[in-house]
Amino acid sequence: MTRLTTTREHNFFEQMKCEQNNLVGCISRIRHALSTGQGEIPELCQTILRFSELIENHFAREENGGYLRDVTDPAPELAARATELLGEHTALRGALQTIRQLAQNCDRSDAWRQDLGREFERFAQQLMIHEAREDDLMIEGGLAHQGPAAADLPISPK
Ligand SMILES: [Fe+2]
Repeated sequence: MTRLTTTREHNFFEQMKCEQNNLVGCISRIRHALSTGQGEIPELCQTILRFSELIENHFAREENGGYLRDVTDPAPELAARATELLGEHTALRGALQTIRQLAQNCDRSDAWRQDLGREFERFAQQLMIHEAREDDLMIEGGLAHQGPAAADLPISPK
């Protein structure tokens, strides 16, 4: 199914894509710091806490934007999947809380670093799967396309 999207939808998806790209960049930087052991630990902890804020803001924007309603309003058959994906935010927030606590209670031990690395990797993988499933739903709903950047999404004439 192909249909034109409105400017509001276009802006929303463009912003979500931009935030996703930003999150992917953060994950990559944190992974690098964790795997190489390079950089100061307090700086790493600050980066993780900032990353945590970005995620919370990202989830809040998705939820306050009606969570995929631009997909489910015209395609109610996709609503159950959207509800399931929204439910994943709860589990992801729980995993994020674990990482935040580790970053706030840094003891610089090897065990601490291993715990942080393991929990961060678990969270990052869960998040990327979740984001990809949201993308899939948007593509199925005809609001996004595989391949082109969000900026190339068709929009109705202004
Ligand atoms: Fe989400």
